[in-house]
Amino acid sequence: MEDRIVSGEILEEDQEEVSIRPLSLEEYIGQEDVKQNIKVYIEAAKLREEPLDHVLLYGPPGLGKTTLANIIANELGVNIKTASGPSIEKSGDLAAILSTLEPNDVLFIDEIHRMPSYIEEILYPAMEDFVLDIMIGGEGNSRSIRINLPKFTLVGATTRAGDLTSPLRDRFGIIAKMQYYTIEELIQIVKRSAKVYHVEIEDDAALELASRSRGTPRIANRLLKRVRDFALVDGSGIIDLEITKKSLERLKIDEKGLDDTDHQLLLAIIEKFNGGPVGIESVASSIGEEVTTIEDVYEPYLLQQGFLKRTPRGRVATMLAYEHLKIEYQKDLFH
Ligand SMILES: Nc1ncnc2c1ncn2[C@@H]1O[C@H](COP(=O)(O)OP(=O)(O)OP(=O)(O)O)[C@@H](O)[C@H]1O
Ligand SMILES: [Mg+2]
Repeated sequence: MEDRIVSGEILEEDQEEVSIRPLSLEEYIGQEDVKQNIKVYIEAAKLREEPLDHVLLYGPPGLGKTTLANIIANELGVNIKTASGPSIEKSGDLAAILSTLEPNDVLFIDEIHRMPSYIEEILYPAMEDFVLDIMIGGEGNSRSIRINLPKFTLVGATTRAGDLTSPLRDRFGIIAKMQYYTIEELIQIVKRSAKVYHVEIEDDAALELASRSRGTPRIANRLLKRVRDFALVDGSGIIDLEITKKSLERLKIDEKGLDDTDHQLLLAIIEKFNGGPVGIESVASSIGEEVTTIEDVYEPYLLQQGFLKRTPRGRVATMLAYEHLKIEYQKDLFH
């Protein structure tokens, strides 16, 4: 997939986002339900001087899972060790990370759904009883040894909770679903980031940016950086509504935050498949995208905004999609 500016996924240019990452729950905007609950659990764990229960964070890319994992460790006052599911290939890899943990530390495993299943099985006793059973030796004389681990908190993040096996899911005491952010929350995020970047942004410009950010802080911050460039080169340096609209037009992002690919996807369903229902595989091949990319990256926002509906017989473009694309909706006449 080429880099889409409205992709929630992390891109090369997001690297400097580290500096705009909030470091405490106080600074973490939105996700109120998740935040309020986690605050209590952290407080309780600290009072008991025990590790926090294992936490699973799930939801679309760019909603702040990694940020929240780091904040949890900060608030607990412990170290965080980070790994990603696909990078843990051998039991030794997992053992190596686990052996660096100190009591009550956080182990953050990103993309936990992509962890190999044999690693998962070693993780179960580690999560439950804080022991590691590993096989040593080779053919003929292999035996299992048990290593005691310090008590720790596993924080897992995934964009696909459905891909987690139920034994793994069941071992998380705290399961938090990340929600798309409201416009008001995104305005706060944009303004906060603008401050960090030392750039002035007017209220109506912040609203415009927030409205086109697909409910996703990572996208809001990325658009802010692009508009900041346009404001510097083509404008007065201050981010106002005019330069914001002009920049977003140049970036081909419409009023709802949809880009060319979203348009192609909806148009394919409407024009090639008569509005649906149509199988996701057919949609994918007609626009030349992977099924998983559509499911993880494109679809969630289109579904959430009501442009797309999932039915047992496939995807359907809604009346809203027709209206948004300014195509006459005639389906009901025939049904
Ligand atoms: N609640 C928030 N308040 C302020 N900024 C936020 C918030 N959540 C996320 N951000 C910003 O958005 C960026 C993306 O967040 P983060 O990397 O945590 O997303 P993620 O859910 O881990 O994404 P992925 O699924 O791709 O790993 C961060 O750099 C941070 O600056
Ligand atoms: Mg992340």
